[in-house]
Amino acid sequence: MAEVAVGGRAGAIEASELAEIGLRFEVDGEIATITLDRPDKRNAQTFATWSALARIGESLPEQVRVVVVEGEGPSFSAGIDLRIFTPEGVPGQTFFAANAARDDETLERGIAEAQQGFLWLRRPEIVSIAAVQGHAIGAGFQLALACDLRILAEDAKLCMKEPALGLVPDLTGTKPLVDIVGLPRAIEMCLTARTVDAREALALGLGELMVPGEELKQAVRDLAAAVLATDRGAATATKRLLQGARGRSLEEQCAAERREQAVRLKTMFARS
Ligand code: CAA
Repeated sequence: MAEVAVGGRAGAIEASELAEIGLRFEVDGEIATITLDRPDKRNAQTFATWSALARIGESLPEQVRVVVVEGEGPSFSAGIDLRIFTPEGVPGQTFFAANAARDDETLERGIAEAQQGFLWLRRPEIVSIAAVQGHAIGAGFQLALACDLRILAEDAKLCMKEPALGLVPDLTGTKPLVDIVGLPRAIEMCLTARTVDAREALALGLGELMVPGEELKQAVRDLAAAVLATDRGAATATKRLLQGARGRSLEEQCAAERREQAVRLKTMFARS
């Protein structure tokens, strides 16, 4: 696999800088892979992680159509780096309590910046796939939820821990969770902060596939290859259409289908 530093566009970030944050970013043709790479700390995430994710999104090479998000080691991600809540904090990053003392607008702006690390994974031009083994807790679960698709290893364990810590899930995870499992189950899962194992997660629709751990990488490669076999323009237009479906009436959705199809037909006949 070709390893590249992100570069050449706005928000460029070097591989060495990513390594310090505990991330790797590799591009192999149309597939980009983001690896959470702090296995000794179970891929705990910091503000620097989210800011780097956002910059990767901003500078994603144009040829990329599939983005894989994976975690090195036994866990996908143990969520927010709990040092953030301690007076010592994470070296080089603001102590959480200092942030909390700021006015609401500043505080919310900071959260909005963190959310940018997650939001781009939903772009219609790409299909994002989370490869989840072991624990995906809090921010880790939300990162998996930010992806379009999730492949679960048999040992995957998902937990929305935030309410148990006195917080709410604020890294874009609540909407996909409710969309996938429905409101009552989302309330039950979040307010008990219980751990959902891979089998239950699959049954709830939180994963598209469950495989033995040693087959996780191959399963991701197979899914990526299947996605890439589809025409790029059609894939982008279809994802855009599907993403908008819940927010539209049947009539509006039919109109959206017509608009997208008119563009597809024109493109097809212009080619022939
Ligand atoms: N932050 C910082 N360090 C963490 C961490 C975290 N979230 N999770 C694990 N680590 C560290 C441990 O402190 C330990 O470090 P040392 O070796 O230096 O002692 C190392 O990673 C390995 O951890 P364990 O020995 O506990 O590993 P395990 O495989 O037995 O257990 C685990 C894994 C179940 C994930 C467990 O580590 C755990 O429960 N971690 C905490 C999970 C958590 O509460 N995360 C916060 C979620 S809420 C959130 O994310 C908030 C938000 O978005 C706003």
